[in-house]
Order: sequence, then structure tokens, then C-alpha cells
Amino acid sequence: MYTQMMDTQGAEKAKAVTTLEEQELMRRFDARIDDGGFIEAKDWMPEHYRKTLVRQISQHAHSEIVGMLPEGNWVTRAPTLKRKAILLAKIQDEGGHGLYLYAAAETLGTSRDQMIDALHAGRAKYSSIFNYPTLSWADVGVIGWLVDGAAIMNQVPLCRCSYAPYARAMIRICREESFHQRQGYDALLVMMRDGTDAQRAMVQDAVNRWWWPSLMMFGPPDGESVHSAQSMRWGIKRISNDDLRQKFIDATAQQAGVLGVTLPDPHLKWNEERGHYDFGPIDWDEFWRVVGGDGPCNRERLAERVKAWEEGEWVREAALAHARKQSMKEAA
Ligand SMILES: [Fe+2]
Ligand SMILES: [Fe+2]
Repeated sequence: MYTQMMDTQGAEKAKAVTTLEEQELMRRFDARIDDGGFIEAKDWMPEHYRKTLVRQISQHAHSEIVGMLPEGNWVTRAPTLKRKAILLAKIQDEGGHGLYLYAAAETLGTSRDQMIDALHAGRAKYSSIFNYPTLSWADVGVIGWLVDGAAIMNQVPLCRCSYAPYARAMIRICREESFHQRQGYDALLVMMRDGTDAQRAMVQDAVNRWWWPSLMMFGPPDGESVHSAQSMRWGIKRISNDDLRQKFIDATAQQAGVLGVTLPDPHLKWNEERGHYDFGPIDWDEFWRVVGGDGPCNRERLAERVKAWEEGEWVREAALAHARKQSMKEAA
């Protein structure tokens, strides 16, 4: 997941609670959230909560399937059959994550067609990290290590999200994400330990390009994060953007040491007093530029998605025809 940073669109105003009955429902809803309880699809929920979740879960689903594209570039060029099999499995997992998440969002009353339409029309967001190019094989390893690694940091707290269908989807997704992170780290470790100087330089170059965008995955600083406070109150979000980012930096700085790469931040330094790594300023102008559609690959990614959707039309038709035939057989 790739959720926190995408929560950037204009907030819908909460509808004023009007009737006494609604006030009672609201009171019960709040009490359940305050107790740390879960909300199921059939339960009453405020419209603003529903809309916030649809936005977040659908953006998350879109990120999973758009995230298949940069890595898909490398399936035919993976250096060994083993790496190719691993990469294929990983990309297929991401497609599965999209499926669980679209299904979770559908329980809130929005159809998958509506969500896909919004993505293809450019009305819906997905994680900006996938608007960066994958220039070398090392990028595939770095995506696993840093991008899936940041995704895990973001997603583990979502396993306790107050909306139960989302939380259940996240439990399964997180298990697979940890495999993704490790396969990336392992691929890099092989290049750093047994590789040539050129391969080590390739890994360092990929780390240099992906480090800062991966820190942006946690979203804007807490003070500028539009939906954070409400999402925290509702138990959708459990840990703030800045706290998650710090956690990620602390864990990753040590892994970089083991790997033998340098993180491209001259300010990165252990701070004994804080018990955390200090780090340099993040270029938020770049973040907003890419979120706004002007990243290196925004247009290419969207065009590829639309093309895949159009070219897959016959597959969807065939699957539906098969399902119809099966249900007719069963009825007979
Ligand atoms: Fe995923
Ligand atoms: Fe992943």
C-alpha cells in the first residue's frame, strides 16, 4: 500500500446529522470506534467515513495494479530464470492485491467499473512512486527493498483499520509484501557481494534515484496532511505520516549498511538523544508536481493501463460468457 500519500484530494464536508434516529446511530458508531471495535459492511456508518474509505481503498487498489507496470518492464530481461520466476510471482501478487482491495471497496457501494473508469479518466489517484522509471535491473531490487518496504510500514497499521473488510484484506496483503521486500533485498545483496564493480555501481545508482521518492510515499508532513486528523479519529489511520517515515528511515539506514550502499542524504546521521536517525529536507515541490500529473512517467503509465484494459476486453467477455454457461448448466 501505498495509501497515506494519496490522501490528498479535497475533503468532502460531513453531512449534518439531522434526525434523532441518525444522532443515535452516530453515537453508537462513535462509541464502537472509541472502543477500538470494527465496522462491517452491513453496519450503519456516516457518509463521510464511507467516502473517505472508498477514496483510500480505491487509490490503494489502483496503486497495486499500476505498480505492476514498472516491474513488468523487466520480466523479459530478468538475468536468470529464477529471478524471472520470482518477479512474475511478485507482479502477480500485486494484481491479487488490487483484486482484494477493489472487492473491499465494492462492499461500500461503489462498483469496480466506476473505480476503473475514474482511474482511466485521470480522476483517481494512485501512488506517485509508480510514476518513476525503472532504468536498470537494480531498480527491480530497489523497488522490492525500498518501495515494498515503505509499503509494509504503511500497511501493517492498516491491518487494524476500523473498517473490517479493509483490515482483513490488509492482513493477507502484508504477508505477501514481506516476501516482496525480501526478494528485492536478496537480489541487491547478490549484486553487492558477488557482482562486478559495474553491478555495484548500478545498485548505488538505483538507490540514489529511489531513496527520496520512497520517503515521499508516507505522504506530506503531518501538519499539511489534509485528512490525517479525521482518519486518525476514525481509526482508519493509526500512525502519523512523519512517525511512519521516521520508522522506515531508522530500519532502512541499518539495512543499507549491511548491503554496502550509501543513502543519498548528507544529513543522515544517528541521533543518540532522539534515538532516531536525523535526515535532510524532502523536496515537497517534486512530490506535488508528480501527484499533480507531471512526473517522469505519469502519462505513459495511464496510457499503458488504458491500453491493457482495451486489449483485455475479449478476455473479460470470454470469462463472462463462460460463467453464464456454467450457471445455465447448473440450473439445468
Ligand atoms: Fe502489493
Ligand atoms: Fe508488493
